[in-house]
Amino acid sequence: MAQSEGGQTIVVSNRGPVTFSRGESDEREHARGAGGLVTALNAVLRRAENAVWIASAQSEEDVVVSREPAPYEVEDLRVRLVEHDPESYDLMYNELANPLLWFVQHGLYDLPYSPNLGDETRRAWEEGYVTVNRNFADAVVETVAGDSSPTVLLHDYQLYMTPLFIRERLGGDAFLSLFVHIPWPEPDLWRVLPGYIREGVLESLLSADVVAFHTNRYARAFAETAADTLGAEVEAGVIRYKGRDVWVRAYPISIDPKEFEDLAHSEAVLGQEDFVKGLPGKLLLRVDRTDLSKNIVRGFVAYGRMLERHPEMKGQVTFLAQLQPSRTDVPEYAAYMEAVGRTAEEVNQKHGTDSWRPIELFMEDNFPRSVAAYKNFDVLLVNAVRDGMNLVAKESAVINEKSGVLVLSENAGAHEELGEHALTVNPYDVDGQAEAIHAALTMPQEERERRSRALREEVRSNTIEDWVEAQMRDIAAYREQHG
Ligand code: F6P
Repeated sequence: MAQSEGGQTIVVSNRGPVTFSRGESDEREHARGAGGLVTALNAVLRRAENAVWIASAQSEEDVVVSREPAPYEVEDLRVRLVEHDPESYDLMYNELANPLLWFVQHGLYDLPYSPNLGDETRRAWEEGYVTVNRNFADAVVETVAGDSSPTVLLHDYQLYMTPLFIRERLGGDAFLSLFVHIPWPEPDLWRVLPGYIREGVLESLLSADVVAFHTNRYARAFAETAADTLGAEVEAGVIRYKGRDVWVRAYPISIDPKEFEDLAHSEAVLGQEDFVKGLPGKLLLRVDRTDLSKNIVRGFVAYGRMLERHPEMKGQVTFLAQLQPSRTDVPEYAAYMEAVGRTAEEVNQKHGTDSWRPIELFMEDNFPRSVAAYKNFDVLLVNAVRDGMNLVAKESAVINEKSGVLVLSENAGAHEELGEHALTVNPYDVDGQAEAIHAALTMPQEERERRSRALREEVRSNTIEDWVEAQMRDIAAYREQHG
């Protein structure tokens, strides 16, 4: 399928596909962004001629680029970077989007004690979140310059207010979608937010044409929340509000298997394999950002419990935790990194010996080592409290060479597709996780092979290209039905 019908295609996300810097002799350099979302949006861009990707300027040189004529062409991309006032951006990212919206949508608050909302919340909303979202809307309107029916594909919870601001300026012919890449909570949890956010976000999302999620469960929860918050009418994947139809859809995001097959043979990855293969015993692996939603602390506690209950496993397994530091300016994240380090140390002190460290913990960005570990794990632990999808489970499935077993949280989006072939865990149940880790480590070879083959086939049956295709088909169908 070529470009969706209508005018220009614009992709908008907070984090962009490239970051610019100055090299040693002061020339402009750029680095391609890594991570699942960037790969996925690149796949969207490949489908649409002359598409422009709008994102926040993050580095000093990004700001310089943002002040030059746009779009800026780099490699095969056309990007427009948006400069935000640093204080507004800080309020949006570090006070509103990441602690508040992220915590509510992942169910991370200890509700009897937090959050403590008040005037500061309103300031972070008005001076941070809303301001940054207006900047994005301005950038979209400038980019489409007079095209009255562009296709604008907005991504994620940093941009919830942008659809409304664009709709106000471009009117009804523009096609707008917003893809929520994180879980959508049940309506009662959404009620933790103050009314002006709770209703403001819903009003804005319902000014889009399609609101998309990774799973049916989140799509259902969103429709229920729209009915609960705004009294919207909901029927079979359509929300009717203020005379408009909004489609609510699930498109499970995936990966490009070829990208990971190529990476698996790259020099950087091969260079890390000796280390990974040299770890004593079977390899239990986790690869995550240091995010509270990933449930890293409980994972270590569960592993410690497994060693207590099954002392014969001591020395027979090493838990490699490859953790990429994330959002370190948010106090809850900084505290969590400390808790992760402390808990690993406790398990190592209690169970380790002179020749065996039960947990090998790395809190650093080392993607080649993670990919080397994807190839070699016996068990992969994904025990997230809640997770939009979890691409680690998919990336590793296509290149693992050990018939590795997946221990998977029932609250990870990936569970809707992969749960049947994994060992399912309740993320709050540490004993259950301890037993699942043990069962996975001791599973008969034949069953391991059967499950890992099924996982690989499942991932291959829905790749990133299928993800894009399904959305493009719906955009065309929506346009056809709604003129
Ligand atoms: O999945 C949600 C998300 O915000 C992605 O958009 C992003 O790749 C990831 O989390 C990392 O978040 P951040 O951009 O805050 O580092």
